[in-house]
Amino acid sequence: MLGSRQSPYSSMGQFGPRRNYSTYGRPSARLPHLRLDTMLVLLVVCFFMGMYLPGWMGMAPTESLGRGNDGSMSRENFAVSTPDLLERVQILKARMTDAEKKAAAVLEENQKLRLDNEIEQANLKTLTKAKNEEIRGLQARIDSTEEKLDATKKQSADANGKAEHHKTRSEIKDMEDQIKSLKKQLELALQKSPSDSTHQHEKAAAGSIPSSKKEPKKSEVVDVVKKPLLTRKTVSVPEPQQLNPLWEARLHELFDLAQSDPASLLSKLDNSNADPLGVNVGGPTNFTCPPPSERLTQPDLRRMEVATQFRGGHGFVFFQHLRKAGGTGFCDMASRNMPGHVPSYYCMPDHRGTLATPPWTTSWLLDTMEEKSFRVAANEWDPFLRAWFAIGDAVFATTIRDPTDRWYSQYRFEHVEHRDGTTEDSVPKPFDVWYGQKHSHNMGHNYYVKTFLGEATETEPLQRKGPNGVPLVHGNFYWAYDKYQARVLTWEDFRMAMDTLLRFHVVLVTEWLDEANATMKCTLGWTEAPRQILPHEVQAARQEKKSKSARALLDKKVFDSIREANVLDHLFFEAARRIFLERHACESA
Ligand SMILES: *[C@@H]1O[C@H](CO)[C@@H](O)[C@H](O)[C@H]1NC(C)=O
Ligand SMILES: *[C@@H]1O[C@H](CO)[C@@H](O)[C@H](O)[C@H]1NC(C)=O
Repeated sequence: MLGSRQSPYSSMGQFGPRRNYSTYGRPSARLPHLRLDTMLVLLVVCFFMGMYLPGWMGMAPTESLGRGNDGSMSRENFAVSTPDLLERVQILKARMTDAEKKAAAVLEENQKLRLDNEIEQANLKTLTKAKNEEIRGLQARIDSTEEKLDATKKQSADANGKAEHHKTRSEIKDMEDQIKSLKKQLELALQKSPSDSTHQHEKAAAGSIPSSKKEPKKSEVVDVVKKPLLTRKTVSVPEPQQLNPLWEARLHELFDLAQSDPASLLSKLDNSNADPLGVNVGGPTNFTCPPPSERLTQPDLRRMEVATQFRGGHGFVFFQHLRKAGGTGFCDMASRNMPGHVPSYYCMPDHRGTLATPPWTTSWLLDTMEEKSFRVAANEWDPFLRAWFAIGDAVFATTIRDPTDRWYSQYRFEHVEHRDGTTEDSVPKPFDVWYGQKHSHNMGHNYYVKTFLGEATETEPLQRKGPNGVPLVHGNFYWAYDKYQARVLTWEDFRMAMDTLLRFHVVLVTEWLDEANATMKCTLGWTEAPRQILPHEVQAARQEKKSKSARALLDKKVFDSIREANVLDHLFFEAARRIFLERHACESA
């Protein structure tokens, strides 16, 4: 597969979904292996044996020990032909035993060191964890005291009676003192790193015996101790809120039109005179920031303090990777902005981008992010869960693209380029035939709205069970498909998806990536700009690197029918474009 990803859905029934077994168990215990230096000692011993043993025994190298002229071996032959051989063998044996002993000693010493090292690392980890917890605890106490202080100050300002005023004044003083002392403790905790007190005997042991033990990267450990990557704060999952009334009414009306007459809605969206969402202005640079009452992005539902924390080096980006919509480019951008903090496999900490599916629970995710100091987590195959909004450390981001272009790109990627198990020389099915057969394996029509519905929770039984009630791990791939393929979407669903999207800190539009520099800088603090890269460029060996527009390539009837089938996604996409434009013009200009 050359590292390319196959849709777990597109290959169903043929190969079963791609699995990565290596992620099921942590590589906690490695098999002991023969070490290089030990092997070298043995090799040298063997080499000298081959060189000198026959010579000492008065033989040509091809002759063998104790063999008679007829080739037979006997104690007599052995004794008669080489009278002093026994003595030589004794010497040799003694030498060999010495070498063996030395080799064994080296081996043993190294094993001991390795074990020590492992214990040390484990201790260090525990210490680091405890230290991080202490720091977090102190920080939380400072936060809550400060909050209380604010409340009391407010109360004091409102207070009338003199006695009451005095009382709150002394309360305020107490709290201020408390905060001061907590801050001092925090400072102390930050200064004392557990890594300082360890590794003593490591230095002592160094030099005497060659050792290949891996030292823990001290700088990283210290870094983690000084600024814990995650606060592990949990916030409540937000209830959906009323949209800006203007937009609530406008979108509802358009939604109804989409249901009753999709062709008419689509032509309205295309028509730059009608332009019901005000997005056809010739690109982001031509869009001017509207007054707050006219903004879809007001009220702002995002938790902006997380973005601030992120820019300060804490927390991580939770990236909802919509397939074939520029997610690989986003991951590339993440790698350039946060080298060393990005999961190597398409930004997926679970190696497969199914973060809603057991065994990858939220606590697993947070442990992994913290342990590996990852700062981005991509989820590609599972829809977004609203439950993830409870992660207090996550900045949410996604990249969205014209829905029909996206479908066409998926068709080309999976089917035309034969990643779906079809043979290289087979003639691809036409797009409409492929779509007719495959869309239900991809959650059906309107993939975007279904992705952002976000209604599943981790407590929902997601696993398919085998005959004996044993969960089928690969069966978990199907839950999104099971859940959404035949789902009929209502206005409430659409509203919910809008609410979810509006809580995303970053909503990029693939067609406007060139205009995303400013947004990325002001939201995430990223200075390495987005690059238009086609995913899997190398493997795909495409003639033409430019993204292709479905409108230009498809028969009009086919094009229209796919658009109509995904009309809600088209409406959703237009709203996402509006979100991008408003934030671009109002926040980052
Ligand atoms: C966008 O703005 C540029 C100049 O800034 C202008 O030349 C162009 O016509 C505008 N496009 C539209 C569609 O208004
Ligand atoms: C975004 O940044 C890239 C790289 O720095 C630059 O080439 C590009 O022109 C920038 N785009 C805009 C619209 O400023």
